Amino acid sequence: GFSVLAARSGVRVEVGPEDTIAGALGKAGVKVTLSCEQGICGTCVVSVLEGEPDHRDEYLTEDERTDQIALCCSRARSPLLVVDI
Ligand code: FES
Repeated sequence: GFSVLAARSGVRVEVGPEDTIAGALGKAGVKVTLSCEQGICGTCVVSVLEGEPDHRDEYLTEDERTDQIALCCSRARSPLLVVDI
């Protein structure tokens, strides 16, 4: 697992192997707007402020992958990911 800090909300959650980032944030009261939940539509994309994403979506371009993440399905390679939500 890894931790995600929702910087604007001031909420930090643990994301276990069975969780998604969006799911873990949702349980903690941080609403992530979702649509496809399969990494295709881009509805759940937010900016990454710190940490290294493990991209699992098929939406973002290589350029966008440097500082954005799809919260419905992507994960983290670093122990902590800080996102702008
Ligand atoms: Fe569609 Fe995440 S909800 S890409």
